[in-house]
Amino acid sequence: MKSAKVSITRKKPDQFTGDLLVYCIPQDKKEKPTAIAGLGKKELQTAIKLGDFKGKENETLLVYPHASSGAKSFSGRVLYMGLGQASDDSPTELRERCREIGGKIASMAKQVKAKQVCLCLPAIASIPADIFIECLLEGVLLGDYHFLKYKKKDGKKEKFTGIAKISVWSPKAEKGLRKGINRARLAASAACDARNMANEPGNCWTPVSFAHYARELAIKHKMKCTVLGKAEMKRLKMGGILAVNQGSSEAPKMVILEYKALKKKVDTILLVGKGLTFDSGGVSLKPSPGMQDMKYDMCGGAAALSAMAVVGEEKPDVNVIAIIPATDNMGGGAALKPGDIIRHYSGITSEIINTDAEGRLILADALAYGIEKFSPDCVVDLATLTGAVIVGLGHHRTGLMGNNQPLIDRLCKAGDNCGEPLWQLPLDKEYTKQIDSDVADIKNTGGPGAGSITAAAYLQEFVGDTPWAHMDIAGTAWGFTKKNYIPKGPSGTGVRTLVDMVRNWKKFQA
Ligand code: BES
Ligand code: MN
Ligand code: ZN
Repeated sequence: MKSAKVSITRKKPDQFTGDLLVYCIPQDKKEKPTAIAGLGKKELQTAIKLGDFKGKENETLLVYPHASSGAKSFSGRVLYMGLGQASDDSPTELRERCREIGGKIASMAKQVKAKQVCLCLPAIASIPADIFIECLLEGVLLGDYHFLKYKKKDGKKEKFTGIAKISVWSPKAEKGLRKGINRARLAASAACDARNMANEPGNCWTPVSFAHYARELAIKHKMKCTVLGKAEMKRLKMGGILAVNQGSSEAPKMVILEYKALKKKVDTILLVGKGLTFDSGGVSLKPSPGMQDMKYDMCGGAAALSAMAVVGEEKPDVNVIAIIPATDNMGGGAALKPGDIIRHYSGITSEIINTDAEGRLILADALAYGIEKFSPDCVVDLATLTGAVIVGLGHHRTGLMGNNQPLIDRLCKAGDNCGEPLWQLPLDKEYTKQIDSDVADIKNTGGPGAGSITAAAYLQEFVGDTPWAHMDIAGTAWGFTKKNYIPKGPSGTGVRTLVDMVRNWKKFQA
């Protein structure tokens, strides 16, 4: 599970002694591969002559160079990795292309079980070098992800546990090379942390696990961590998270992690992530097929907290606070029931129609509490909130709603930048009418239509005028659209979007 160590090397590629040497090969204007040099050159030339390799984007050629073709001490493989032609693609498209290529390299490394990999950058770049290395490496590191913690070694065959060491070689001294590498390393490692949390089963990753992770981050990066337990929640009258936790024997936690910028008079961003460590549906029990996937119902919390690892490391000029309301949703004897009326932290009362609409209940308390306590300039929440978002957008885009267009636009841009596209859904007041209750202020489901939007309308009741955006990641947190750098299982979606938003933060005018 440890991710690869990355370093810059000055040793010429033909001196490399590891398992896999990767040459990145751009195409010229005539769609011919360029930069034909180095180890395995003769084999490559033959392949080109036979028409087997053109250097097209994502095209690969694996060769085993013979001593006669210049390989003296080298006993590994050479991968020629096609980059395609230079194009007038937007930076966003270029970034995604590089990540896909990186993901392809990772899958080739896995195929040949390569532990030591050398990445050679092209001499003639069709893509600016800093973007190229950042996104390529991000793709390699994200694509190299493995979760083997609970798999025992099968006697004979040793499992491939991922790339151990990546050395990056550049034909010329590139400005921004190290910076690009660092950005990639941090973003990818945070996304892989979120994937690890998600892959942990519900009996291992419990609310207290979020607290432990946050405390460790706080110590490492000198941030402030506060964990509210059940007693504090009772004192604070957090009736939403307490209600959801009622049927469980696992204690709830409200995990708060605060990064304070050195600079004064900067904006404060509040991140809130749904940390539902297992969602059985409660008394409104979910059907059994697929219920095991509800261990992933904490992906919003995982994303918010993992992003804080990058914030702690990069120390941006903006305050960032993450709150993760964490509990599971179980149907024990004391469980919440349909028809019950609860009172949220804000004082708003809610009629429970369906105990499976629990995410909004825990988020409501976290949003109201966070906004009151920290007076943030804006709030972003992430949650695997509704099955309905999958009906609407499939597994290709995260649903996005909110009360502030500039904030929504920032998130959309950040998502595009990192290959986690979002799509805005409307949130007009008609949708709020769907959650009117006869007996309480609101009710926790909005009827058959527009399930993702009525869930957002519920959250909106708790943010007041604070600029707020809500990301429904139920379709993208796992089973995300197919990409070379997204393995099966949890995607870590949201982490890199948040990181990108924070990295590009400019003073926010509501
Ligand atoms: N965690 C689920 C949403 C979900 C469903 C995520 C499928 C990923 C895949 C959420 O708590 C939930 O159960 N929502 C209900 C709401 C309904 C009862 C109004 C849903 O979407 O069915
Ligand atoms: Mn549910
Ligand atoms: Zn849920």
